[in-house]
Amino acid sequence: MPTNVLITGAAGFLGQRLARALLTGTPLLDAAGAPITLDECRLLDVTAGPDPGDRRARWITGDLADDGVLAGAIDADTRAVFHLAAVVSGGAEADFDLGMRVNLDGTRALLDACRRTGQRPTVVFASSVAVYGGDHLPTIVSDGTRLTPQSSYGTQKAIGELLVADYTRRGFIDGRALRLPTISVRPGRPNLALSSFASGIIREPLNGETAVCPVAPETVLWLLSPATVIDCFLHAHNLPGDRLGTDRSLILPGLAVSVAEMVAALARVAGPDVAARVHWERDPRVERVANTWPGHLDDARARALGFPVDTTFEDVIRQYIEDRG
Ligand SMILES: NC(=O)c1ccc[n+]([C@@H]2O[C@H](COP(=O)([O-])OP(=O)(O)OC[C@H]3O[C@@H](n4cnc5c(N)ncnc54)[C@H](O)[C@@H]3O)[C@@H](O)[C@H]2O)c1
Repeated sequence: MPTNVLITGAAGFLGQRLARALLTGTPLLDAAGAPITLDECRLLDVTAGPDPGDRRARWITGDLADDGVLAGAIDADTRAVFHLAAVVSGGAEADFDLGMRVNLDGTRALLDACRRTGQRPTVVFASSVAVYGGDHLPTIVSDGTRLTPQSSYGTQKAIGELLVADYTRRGFIDGRALRLPTISVRPGRPNLALSSFASGIIREPLNGETAVCPVAPETVLWLLSPATVIDCFLHAHNLPGDRLGTDRSLILPGLAVSVAEMVAALARVAGPDVAARVHWERDPRVERVANTWPGHLDDARARALGFPVDTTFEDVIRQYIEDRG
């Protein structure tokens, strides 16, 4: 039987990396721990991204929230779905209707398309630590902390997690929802995510440009590198469902680092002149939201389940410099 795997949001930052990893890395494992032969890697996005240069890769362009598009993307031979497509935080805050349509209606439509196959595919859902927030967060946030998102994006991710859990309980899918930290250092240009500065304050100075840090130096962020998050997606897929039990959402392991420490790490890796390109100009719009993000999270469950971890933020910067070439 020819098998296929689907990545939604495949033209995005993480989607492109995940596609490369699936096509070139070690194979995914099935529920019995046997390697899955990948005959087709379906890459869904509104517009096609770069050609991964592998005959098994096939772009499917269209809107996730369109049933016709999903019908062509998910069938009885779909063994796994990595659901990464989303309107990111700033975008979903700026356009409420778009965020609801893609992040909520699109996620439900995708889960229903999986259900219709009757094959219980594995679904790995990219959620976010933005499901947490507000005035009453405990000092250390854990998997069991109440979900009190303070943005439309976080609310849509929280609802997505509940749907993943319920579709799993019903036996429609075998779901896993990963609460991703902020991913840094992200290459390219700034995006609409409110956390975009968490990459900008490292990337722009390394490119010889100035960068503005819109939050106070003591603000603590919860960070994960691009390479490690891709390994986490693959690990999440390969984990036997019974190790997760009924609780299908988990905080991915991260590094708790203040922005002042991030810039100090940049100075140690690239020199003080580079770090001096960061200007501190607080932006109340960004700060209001960033101050609701939990900086210290308890990732013990993910670590016990064998999820990969970053070592230090300095190493993350070095890895970024190396990948950039
Ligand atoms: N990068 C981070 O720091 C971070 C942190 C937490 C969670 N996440 C989550 O991880 C996932 C991937 O993030 P990313 O950084 O690669 O984001 P990205 O914005 O680079 O990629 C998202 C992709 O989704 C696509 N998309 C948007 N609407 C669509 C639609 N209607 N139909 C089909 N595709 C659509 C976009 O075109 C884009 O290519 C997202 O779900 C995001 O919410 C990312």
